[in-house]
Amino acid sequence: MSKYVLPVSVFGTVIGCAVLVKNHVTGGRCPSKAKLNGKTVIITGANTGIGKETARELAQRGGRIIMGCRDMEKCEAAAKEIRGNTLNPHVYACHLDLASMKSIREFAERIKEKEQRVDVLINNAGVMRCPAWKTEDGFDMQFGVNHLGHFLLTNLLLDRLKESAPSRVINLASLAHLVGKMDFEDLNWESRKFDTKQAYCQSKLANVLFTREMAKRLQGTGVTVNAVHPGVVSTELGRHTGLHQSQFSNTVLSPLFSLLVKNPELGAQPSIYLAVAEELEGVTGRYYDVLTEKEPAPQAMDEEAARRLWEISSKLVGLKEDQGQSSNSCHADLPALSQQTHGQNPGPVVGTVES
Ligand SMILES: NC(=O)c1ccc[n+]([C@@H]2O[C@H](COP(=O)([O-])OP(=O)(O)OC[C@H]3O[C@@H](n4cnc5c(N)ncnc54)[C@H](OP(=O)(O)O)[C@@H]3O)[C@@H](O)[C@H]2O)c1
Repeated sequence: MSKYVLPVSVFGTVIGCAVLVKNHVTGGRCPSKAKLNGKTVIITGANTGIGKETARELAQRGGRIIMGCRDMEKCEAAAKEIRGNTLNPHVYACHLDLASMKSIREFAERIKEKEQRVDVLINNAGVMRCPAWKTEDGFDMQFGVNHLGHFLLTNLLLDRLKESAPSRVINLASLAHLVGKMDFEDLNWESRKFDTKQAYCQSKLANVLFTREMAKRLQGTGVTVNAVHPGVVSTELGRHTGLHQSQFSNTVLSPLFSLLVKNPELGAQPSIYLAVAEELEGVTGRYYDVLTEKEPAPQAMDEEAARRLWEISSKLVGLKEDQGQSSNSCHADLPALSQQTHGQNPGPVVGTVES
């Protein structure tokens, strides 16, 4: 017998078992069957990965879904696919580039103009371990898109969220926040050597700090804010990492990795759970590891850091200057939603989710 037979069969058995049990050990499905009829849900970065599968299932549950994406071709294609799959015609593609404050303001203006309510906002879009790129406004790309962009978007949509209360904001954080550190002297990596891994971890720590501070500021408004780590999911998130950059990685390691981690449909279950679960009504300021509430890292519990991040973020995105003023950044030539948004008036709905 060849000396390779035993190790190869052990390796094969281990991989086979891992594939069979991975979906169970990595979380499972949202237990709630709640419907979303009459509810409007905004999902950022919904053209692929976790965001797209979240959009698909929430559309299946009857929600009016607005997919905010930077690439309209991909967004239109995903929206069309979801409308076809779910037979829900109210799935819309809308331009949103979180690396551009102008685009975020235009998107928010358009939502306020066209939508009577925003029941759920899922801040899902993310970029991981990209080179030392800057956003249009000069912020570090990972801090700018993952934190500042969503910080500005959420604040601009706050009036609609409050008017639609009880309503929910869900921030896609990550287990990576555990090793994140906030460098308040250099949030945008201008004076220290750029470390793309740490930049991602810092941005994900910022997601948790933002969640906790916003929940505190929104007490009594009926708007809840929670953060979630979706688990390890096979998506395009690793596109800037070594795993996607060599022939060997693409043809051998990537498919192997995909077999061992959750698919995007299961990866979307934590976001879906936070969006619809009846038992989470009124629950706010929490961190979920997949479907289970957990205490985040000690640095994410630092209230002074959360307050400081809020203050700095407000200044960086120019939020304070906006307060009490209506923005004039929405022009007549804004990109149109992929379908007409009128013709459907969901009317007032009692409760965040309907079962
Ligand atoms: N996958 C995981 O294992 C994992 C683990 C922990 C946390 N997360 C978090 O889960 C979220 C979703 O990630 P994913 O795994 O689904 O990744 P993904 O497949 O790469 O999807 C990310 C989405 O974000 C969009 N995006 C990136 N930059 C944007 C910008 N400037 N403006 C608007 N949209 C932008 C992407 O659009 P394009 O397609 O146009 O680039 C894409 O739609 C992220 O916040 C991520 O940090 C994921």
